[in-house]
Amino acid sequence: MNFKLTEEQQAVKDAARDFAQSELLEGVIERDTEQRFPAQQVRQMGELGFMSMMVDPMYGGGGMDTISYVLAMEEISKIDASASVSMSVNNSLVCWGLEKYGTEEQKKKYLPRLCSGEAIGAFCLSEPEAGSDATSQVTEAIDQGDHYLLNGTKNWITNGNSASVYLVIAQTDREKGHKGINCLIVEKGMEGFVVGKKEDKLGIRGSDTHMLSFTDVKVPKENRVGEDGFGFKFAMGTLNGGRIGIAAQALGIAAGAYELALKYSKERKTFGKPISEHQAIAFKLADMATKIEAARHLVYKAAWLKDQGEDYSEASAMAKLYASEVAMDVTVEAVQVHGGYGYVKEYHVERLMRDAKITQIYEGTSEIQKIVISRSILKD
Ligand code: CAA
Repeated sequence: MNFKLTEEQQAVKDAARDFAQSELLEGVIERDTEQRFPAQQVRQMGELGFMSMMVDPMYGGGGMDTISYVLAMEEISKIDASASVSMSVNNSLVCWGLEKYGTEEQKKKYLPRLCSGEAIGAFCLSEPEAGSDATSQVTEAIDQGDHYLLNGTKNWITNGNSASVYLVIAQTDREKGHKGINCLIVEKGMEGFVVGKKEDKLGIRGSDTHMLSFTDVKVPKENRVGEDGFGFKFAMGTLNGGRIGIAAQALGIAAGAYELALKYSKERKTFGKPISEHQAIAFKLADMATKIEAARHLVYKAAWLKDQGEDYSEASAMAKLYASEVAMDVTVEAVQVHGGYGYVKEYHVERLMRDAKITQIYEGTSEIQKIVISRSILKD
């Protein structure tokens, strides 16, 4: 076993940290308050290669490993989880899904723009009545010969308005259940496709989350990803990797809050000494550091398994389950260490605490991760 990062991985981590400090930190509180998507910064992330880290360079990607990707996700999430969810969806759901399962024409048509930051992707699985129960798709894609006629509504879609390429999951043949579901590439501007209301959220408020509606949208057959009926498997296969990205985001949120709490505890004095010298605070820091390190091992292990070409569905579910719990625990404690200052926006930790909660919900709730894990450990 080798726990040491390679020089390249360390360089990626440093570059992501520098970018987050120099470009994302300034204005992060205002973007959260005003619910403003970091459009310019996400564009820069595309130009720097953060939006398509694992894509083959022949399509404009970075050709990097998953470990490098989680390192970058962790650093960016320490500062701005709204930017990092956009990065995670574009990298691990949209680009990875298209590169793994798309046709050569689809890859050549969409990946270069999604890699450069010129376009952003969105992954549209959830519906008003189909969140955890993802096979219950109401959205329909009816086969009309040379095209599908798409009708329905998608909910809570990350990059909902800022995206221009949407991977939409829809039911084609209801009798076939999950084997009758397809994934279609829908482009912004297609007739009948409307970006609906923006969600007013507890956390990741800079992230652009929308409802989408599709009314008689004609989607050409060549926009279907994979064979007829492959859409549900596409979604599940893609989410296995997406969960590594969200686990890395949770890890970053926790680590960001911990770093702030550690620094503050050395500066803030009570009863004549820095609060870090009070055992009540020192023990909190010890617990936070230990949980973060444990989460980090699970996240890196899942990424490593993916890089080795081994099955990583159980590992990614475990990483997301645990890292998101740690994100919640650690951010709550980081607010506590800051006392009254932690409860106001200026000190960042209250935002990180609000941002942490979504990591237990999206890309499969913690309860869904337990279904995935328990089925996996019980199957033999
Ligand atoms: N990997 C690969 N294949 C999988 C899989 C996985 N993790 N989970 C299920 N499958 C396959 C099964 O093998 C099965 O195939 P066969 O019929 O050929 O055997 C098929 O998919 C159907 O599986 P199940 O019978 O297990 O289906 P189910 O109805 O019991 O549900 C579930 C399975 C795991 C609960 C699934 O519905 C699920 O993951 N739900 C959560 C959905 C989710 O994560 N949504 C997130 C939205 S995206 C998002 O949040 C992005 C964002 O904006 C940040």
